[in-house]
Amino acid sequence: MDPLASEYISSMEADARIFYSVVQINLAHTIMLAERRIIDGADAAAILRTLYKLHEHGVSGLDLRPELEDIHMAVEDFVTKETSEEVGGKLNTAKSRNDQVATAIRLTLRKNLLDVEERLLELVSTLVALAEKNIDTIMPGYTHLQVAQPTTFAHHLAAYAFAFLRDVERIEQTYDVTNSCPMGACALAGTSFPIDRVRVAHMLGFKRIEENTMDAVSSRDFALQAMSALAIAMANLSRLAEELVLWSSAEFNLIELPEEFAATSSVMPQKKNPVVAELARAKAGRVFGNLSGALAVMKALPQSYNLDLQDLTPSLWNSVDEVRGGAEVMAKLISAVEPNRELMRKRAEGGFAAATELADVLVWKTGLAFRDAHAIVGRMIARATKEVRAPEELNIEDLRIASKEVLDKEVQLKPEELKEALDLGKCITARELPGGPAPKAVKNQLKLLKREAKHCAKITRARRRAITKAEIKLLKEAKRRSR
Ligand code: ARG
Repeated sequence: MDPLASEYISSMEADARIFYSVVQINLAHTIMLAERRIIDGADAAAILRTLYKLHEHGVSGLDLRPELEDIHMAVEDFVTKETSEEVGGKLNTAKSRNDQVATAIRLTLRKNLLDVEERLLELVSTLVALAEKNIDTIMPGYTHLQVAQPTTFAHHLAAYAFAFLRDVERIEQTYDVTNSCPMGACALAGTSFPIDRVRVAHMLGFKRIEENTMDAVSSRDFALQAMSALAIAMANLSRLAEELVLWSSAEFNLIELPEEFAATSSVMPQKKNPVVAELARAKAGRVFGNLSGALAVMKALPQSYNLDLQDLTPSLWNSVDEVRGGAEVMAKLISAVEPNRELMRKRAEGGFAAATELADVLVWKTGLAFRDAHAIVGRMIARATKEVRAPEELNIEDLRIASKEVLDKEVQLKPEELKEALDLGKCITARELPGGPAPKAVKNQLKLLKREAKHCAKITRARRRAITKAEIKLLKEAKRRSR
């Protein structure tokens, strides 16, 4: 090939990521070839010896010049040089780079998905820990970024924890789709050699084989699904990041951002910029881009293998890395966040966060229709705002005037009933419904989060163990056969 062309089409740089997977695939495939007597035991032993050595040595043992095109060629080249043209030349019997690369991506992705799950679970547990310390920390709940109703910092943090837990569950589902072996599909139509696909899949710790050889080499929807799940996780992460940016601004001032996670300005010495959160917010864009780029690669791509597929893989790794890195740093940041409890409460009070509760109390105590109560409270607040009076200064007289204006009749509440309705703490404790912000309800949510997170962590650990077990077994078998 023209050197420029071969450099252009080479995937060598990105392939380092799949190195160990490629070596494992070659080990498993060679063992199977020997078992099925497709190649003889002595040749298999020589190949396995070399591959084992390569595994021990790592990727730096390979010649990674782009002229060799990709890592699959580089491994074959290595084995051939270490053994002979005749022996090394047998390695690619009954396989192709097409089934091999699809398998290598799946093997690598499996582990990467577990890494991401672990980081996200760490983030969940950090959010839960901070929430546990802030069950009684009253803060404004916002809609339209306007103070809406009082809630607690714990309730707010738990909202994110639930979102990240769903992300973990989505990634768990993706793992299952990924955990299927394309090997044996060869270029696209399998082979007439009497191979054993199930045996190879088993040695590589896969749950099953891909059922159609053409689909096996040409499908990347498992990667699209991973990138989708990762994009959604990143959307959630960016929302949390955005709130940290907002909350830490002087205008909101709801939290103290830990100094270790902020940077100062090179010009303005007073600044404490929320740079970590800003980048976590921004990186979501990149991860969405990876997904939409990958979808564009797949769109209208004819069966079966086309080199277009090669261009999708680096986006997949980037999505993995961004979510893994983002979740890790955000967990660390969250664990050091300090809420400004006083100000949180003040913001909720100042924003008439108890207004809905007051309307609800009017309904309960006076039998008004909610719509009328809503109009009366709205009128009370409009007047108080105009007169620059604080929410706690609302009184029975305000209620009398407003109800007269709105309904042309006087509505009565006892002064203590009015006072109670405006008490943010009471307002929150009254919302003890499942999912609500009352301390008791939030405690239940945190308990649930911990239980579910523990369950997910158990699945992750079991999957990790199964992979490790298969790897150890494979290497042992390779070693045994290489003697
Ligand atoms: N480097 C390729 C990839 O990453 C491997 C398969 C290439 N197959 C081929 N027939 N050129 O997808």
